Amino acid sequence: MIVKAFSSSANLGAGYDILALAHDAFEDTIEIYVQNSSELDIKVEGNGVPLSIEKNSASFALLELLRSYDIKAKIRLKIIKGIPAGLGLGSSGASAAAAVYAANEIFKLGLSRQELVNFAMKGEIASSGSPHPDNVAASLVGGLVSVLNSNPVKVEQVPLNLEFQIILIIPFVRIEAKTKKAREMVPKQIDTSKYVTNARYLSSLLLGFIKGDRELVRLGLNDEIIEKAREPLFPHYPKIKEISLLYDAIGACVSGAGPTIAIFVDSKSDKNKILGESLNVCKAYGYECTYKIAKVSGGAWV
Ligand code: HSE
Repeated sequence: MIVKAFSSSANLGAGYDILALAHDAFEDTIEIYVQNSSELDIKVEGNGVPLSIEKNSASFALLELLRSYDIKAKIRLKIIKGIPAGLGLGSSGASAAAAVYAANEIFKLGLSRQELVNFAMKGEIASSGSPHPDNVAASLVGGLVSVLNSNPVKVEQVPLNLEFQIILIIPFVRIEAKTKKAREMVPKQIDTSKYVTNARYLSSLLLGFIKGDRELVRLGLNDEIIEKAREPLFPHYPKIKEISLLYDAIGACVSGAGPTIAIFVDSKSDKNKILGESLNVCKAYGYECTYKIAKVSGGAWV
């Protein structure tokens, strides 16, 4: 069976570990072949992916799912990466999402996409040391997804009533174990005033998407806590955000743990200026960069 899953941008400003948006910028493909066996035996294949089951997000998530249903089989898992890793585009999450989606189909487990998030998120332990569910939820469910509870995980799709595209400015800054480091940069304690400000941003963002109000989304695409604490990982971000707002983007945020920047644009935005100037900023920081213009996508599919 062949299953694909799209890339995603997590957090979207104040929605750290809460929001993620699936988009068609990139996709991962999983090929999965199953034979009868009295033991559970998973073999991973693929170029540039960890081949150890415990270190690969897709095989680790698959292992967790199959173990919990006591499924024994000989499985060949081939991973074809289309989503570049370590750039804040939900690469590890998409592979894990595709792998558990495939297993659900093959072994007829009857789990909903939402239920599969519980297993797919375990794959994030293999790649970043923590089982955050946001990227896997977007790649499984599609659209804009909100994580409402962590144990047990509950995720819901947020209605999107706004027309927009996402310009992704992608610098090739490779930092070893980036997500793990980025998570360690998150403050353990925060001021109540910052918490209130961020909660207001998150409310504004969700209301903006639901009501189709670009000004609310613009206000909501901000963050006083996580993006600020992690800024050394993406020093190009403030300037790109400033330029984006100048040329009437809806807003801009860091994509996941960065360094990719997601700029939300619509018919009012001067897309050419935003793109050209943002790439100039990126290059001024000495980064080799590329870009994608993406739209919101659906979840994993066969
Ligand atoms: N919510 C996660 C983080 C996404 O920002 O650490 C990273 O993949």
